[in-house]
Amino acid sequence: MTPPPAAAVKGGARPQVSPRRRDVEGIERVYVWDLLVRMSHWIIMISVFMLAFTGIYIGEPFLIPAGPENEQFVMATMKTVHFYVAIIFALTVASRIAWMFVGSYYARWHQFVPMSPRRRRDVFGMLKFYSLLSKEPPLNVGHNPLAGMTYLAVFGLYLTMIFTGFALYSVSAVGYMQMWEFLLPIFGGAQMARWIHHLAMWFLLGFVAHHIWSAMLVSRVEGMGLIDSLFSGYKFLPKSWRNRDE
Ligand code: HEM
Ligand code: HEM
Repeated sequence: MTPPPAAAVKGGARPQVSPRRRDVEGIERVYVWDLLVRMSHWIIMISVFMLAFTGIYIGEPFLIPAGPENEQFVMATMKTVHFYVAIIFALTVASRIAWMFVGSYYARWHQFVPMSPRRRRDVFGMLKFYSLLSKEPPLNVGHNPLAGMTYLAVFGLYLTMIFTGFALYSVSAVGYMQMWEFLLPIFGGAQMARWIHHLAMWFLLGFVAHHIWSAMLVSRVEGMGLIDSLFSGYKFLPKSWRNRDE
């Protein structure tokens, strides 16, 4: 049996074809995100969700199960999960930061700091797109420069979580983890470290809400397979971009 023609979509309507200029030029599949960039992104995503859930519980225990005290280990479980995931998170963030200096081209620090005049111009182009003053965002092979700058701030938030977290950990640590005690005076004591740890989490979760929305929006408008690229590593780019200066 021959398969139905591609045009035979549900209801019999023919699909609308509206080629963009770059489709007409020809598209090629370009490897943009290497394995470490992809893996670190998804490991960090899962860790942030687990750390936020267990962290919110540590700060405000919202589950108080009934029954004898010696059969309840909810807080102990939450703390254990928080600390193990924190170690995975900290090691992944450290690897990704090191990769900014030794990794593949689009993994490097210049994707986060707009060094070239074109990338600086595109920061404003992107702001115009987000404020509805232009219909098309400026197109880039790697991160768009505004996103890149935001990710730099996000890495700053990751480091804030890690250092305040280790400072808090040192308060009750036995053994070598006490070495992080020196961080406590830097943050103005344990209570202040706890406050910063908590507040930085809400900034991070605020970023995540915006980030998921803008990833879906930009992916749709650019039509280059942006979200897919964080799984496969490949974007779909116009052939004329082959020698483009990024
Ligand atoms: C994105 C990452 C993280 C999030 C969202 C997060 C979230 C939280 C929150 C909301 C709290 C409760 C604060 C309060 O008492 O009000 C907490 C406590 C804590 N977190 Fe994190 N955290 C993260 C990463 C880390 C890291 C990397 C460490 C390093 C060990 C860490 C260690 C701790 C410690 C020691 C506490 C205090 C536990 C206690 O009171 O015994 N956290 N976290
Ligand atoms: C806790 C949740 C998340 C955090 C903290 C986060 C953070 C980040 C960071 C820091 C980057 C830069 C990656 C690098 O160069 O290493 C990035 C890129 C990206 N993320 Fe996420 N992400 C999260 C969830 C998601 C989700 C759920 C999606 C899918 C809808 C997504 C889609 C993307 C895409 C498409 C890029 C590349 C965008 C670009 O080129 O600017 N992220 N994310």
